Amino acid sequence: MSLASVLPIGAQDATVIVDADRGETQISKHIYGHFSEHLGHCIYGGLWVGKDSKIPNVDGVRKDVLEALKKIKIPNLRWPGGCFADEYHWKDGIGPQENRARMINTHWGGVVEDNSFGTNEFLNMCEELGTEPYVCGNVGSGSVEELSQWVEYMTFDGESPMANLRKKNGREKPWKVQFLAVGNESWGCGGNMTPAYYSDLYRRYQTFARNYNANAPLLKVAGGANVADYNWTETVMRNVPTNLMWGLSLHYYVHPGGWNHKGSATKFSEEQYVQTMEKAYYMDELITRHDAIMTKYDPNKKVALVVDEWGSWYDVEPGTNPGFLFQQNTMRDALIAAVTLNIFHKHADRVRMANLAQIVNVLQAVIFTDGDKMLLTPTYHIFDMYKVHQDATLLPSSTRCEKISRGKFSADRISSSASKDANGVIHVSLANLDLEKVATVNIDIRGQKVKTIADAQVLTSKNIADYNTFENPDIVDLGEFKDFKLKDGVITIKMPAKSVVTFAVK
Ligand code: AHR
Repeated sequence: MSLASVLPIGAQDATVIVDADRGETQISKHIYGHFSEHLGHCIYGGLWVGKDSKIPNVDGVRKDVLEALKKIKIPNLRWPGGCFADEYHWKDGIGPQENRARMINTHWGGVVEDNSFGTNEFLNMCEELGTEPYVCGNVGSGSVEELSQWVEYMTFDGESPMANLRKKNGREKPWKVQFLAVGNESWGCGGNMTPAYYSDLYRRYQTFARNYNANAPLLKVAGGANVADYNWTETVMRNVPTNLMWGLSLHYYVHPGGWNHKGSATKFSEEQYVQTMEKAYYMDELITRHDAIMTKYDPNKKVALVVDEWGSWYDVEPGTNPGFLFQQNTMRDALIAAVTLNIFHKHADRVRMANLAQIVNVLQAVIFTDGDKMLLTPTYHIFDMYKVHQDATLLPSSTRCEKISRGKFSADRISSSASKDANGVIHVSLANLDLEKVATVNIDIRGQKVKTIADAQVLTSKNIADYNTFENPDIVDLGEFKDFKLKDGVITIKMPAKSVVTFAVK
């Protein structure tokens, strides 16, 4: 039913109805995953500085970054790529540092990769972070044996050549590694394959990725489509039995003017802003259509749609290495994150894992580093506000609002979602995309008495293109939100222009 027919817009600019007693689906915490590739300064300088660095570190990993990531409770971390994964040979990155192979990172800037950050360093870092590793195997240029041995090295607890090698390298017990991607972008940088050819390879490679840990069987993710390549999804779903895959991936980036006209991260017109938001909302259509195809083959939604690369992708910052994909992160990016996470929530029955690209210093990063300095981007603050939704139960909700528009582009002015956590606390998140106007939003919580509103936070900024700098790291920062009132069970909030608000309802 269209809400327009039952809810006239009056003093309010938008109405959100939340059915507090109708939640069924869990929002997997794994949709809050991140991605760390050997690309630019993501690994080197961003996460890893080495044990001998003057920058405070825990076994070579920056302490400041570890603490910031622990605060937002990152549930999983994808590694080593991306495109890099299909050229990565894991044995180059184990054993004594001085013996590790030096290679060219052909995808990303042609720099020398000295393999000082390898399997042991990554998995130890994940343990320190309390996050699940999501390892991406090499199908493009690696052998079945190589992937099979990597799984054995990481997860086999017993007597075997690879387990013995791990022990020789100082790690007695296996790590817990559950998430395994079988190749990356096999339609492109991962081998330029057809979906039919990839399906066969997937079946073969995953066969030899053995389950050594009965308590944590491998959750295998097949390489999925680029954006709207529905034929890829159809072919893989048709050719791979659903019991052979835990998930199927999807990659989608927001390039405001398309791949060849990505535009600047910080200098954009109002029209380009609305175009960007229109493209952020496109994630909803993509998931809906890929899900519909998957449902033909998997009506019970056993196979997860894993959006393991998403986020904004602009031109690199002037003067930086084009192969390092370093871009600024503004309030616009915070809004992309809020809109996208609300969409993931809505599709929680199918989307059970996702990875923002990328975690530090690359694309829509949550953290920037420069030498010993670190800052949190506006996108970081969204992940901080939204962590309350991790593993909570999605509450069905509907939003009625106007659109914002500029030129030929338009987007819903208000994006929202709600969930109920294990203690029965409801959390509501809303984004007001309007560049100028405060939005008065009525939130009608049905099926549960509302007593109080608590822990209300807001992220906003004076200008949509504001960003944090090392000199001024709090230009875009979280603040307490107070502009709400409660009457007859209906909450009314006044959201600043270009803002995101999250609050608890008890
Ligand atoms: O995230 C940057 C790159 O984008 C990844 O390496 C690749 O998988 C995608 O095309």
